[in-house]
Amino acid sequence: MSTATPRSPSGRIHILGLGNLGRLFAHALAKVENAPPITLLLHRASLADEWEKVGRRIEITTDGVPDRTGPFDVELVSPQGSQHIIDNLIVATKTTKTIPAVSAIKHRLTSDSTILFTQNGMGTVEELTKALFEDPSTRPNYLACVTSHGVYSQGPFRSVHAGRASVTIGRVAHSKAPQYLIDKIVQAPVLSAREVTPSELLRLQFEKLVVNAMINPLTAVFNCRNGELFNRTAIVRIMRLLLRETCQVLLSLPELRDDPTTPSRFSTQNLETVVLDVAEKTAMNTSSMLQDVRAGRETEIDYINGYIVKRGREAGIDCRNNEKLVQMVKEGIVITVDEASQYFPEY
Ligand code: PAF
Repeated sequence: MSTATPRSPSGRIHILGLGNLGRLFAHALAKVENAPPITLLLHRASLADEWEKVGRRIEITTDGVPDRTGPFDVELVSPQGSQHIIDNLIVATKTTKTIPAVSAIKHRLTSDSTILFTQNGMGTVEELTKALFEDPSTRPNYLACVTSHGVYSQGPFRSVHAGRASVTIGRVAHSKAPQYLIDKIVQAPVLSAREVTPSELLRLQFEKLVVNAMINPLTAVFNCRNGELFNRTAIVRIMRLLLRETCQVLLSLPELRDDPTTPSRFSTQNLETVVLDVAEKTAMNTSSMLQDVRAGRETEIDYINGYIVKRGREAGIDCRNNEKLVQMVKEGIVITVDEASQYFPEY
């Protein structure tokens, strides 16, 4: 039974994870007409002090123009901290940190709460459910979104919104999430968001998974920007090997199989076009995975190519090239094009 006591004011949105995406969502929601009350959840007391010093404000620079929002309410997550129920939670942590971060506030979430997952990769929602909310009667309502905005950091409270793109948001299958949080996201002009059905959301998540599975680890092992990847024939050929395995896995998935658009949408030709298009549009980006590798942080590879390998294994599909790439990223291996055949002999 929940030990959480008083209810927080209706409509309040809590944001967990204050990296670039968390800051962008907080900033965007603060600019909505009739903006909802927003609480930023912090895990470190030292960070809470830093926030006080900057007046609990976030600065987002777009087209060279800095724009500050706030002051935001800030709460330190701790056993002695607030026990108020959380009605709406946006999870913007790294995928790998989702379970520990949500565990710390689990007692404040009920079956009436809504959680919006904003991160890259797949498999997080299933893992979280298994770890924390196996009992359906206590499970919060889930939303997820796919975001293509390009944001990079300029310090703990400042980010640059470099690539203005869009967000698609929807309910995760079978979720009865109320409309409130979806509407607030859609009303935020900064986000250019639209709502989609649960099945369309799933297809978009898989498309984004493929984009991330091709661009992120290849930029990490070849140590280059997105735009420098596919002007090299060898890397295009390795991408095709990875894509062939990935498409075989996607076409085998029960959650996609019954959809008549699956064979064309998840064909290797179509997905190659999507991947090349994103790489071109984000040519100057340093992918999030390469940023993680360079900073010595844990990457999201287990939820990207690792997820493809896992689903492939369940379906009996050989994903040896994706598996190799997972291993290389985990070991921090960086190679040149001339060394590629040692790692991908089939290309
Ligand atoms: O993770 C990333 O970096 C981005 O999702 C993408 C689309 C690969 C662009 O850099």
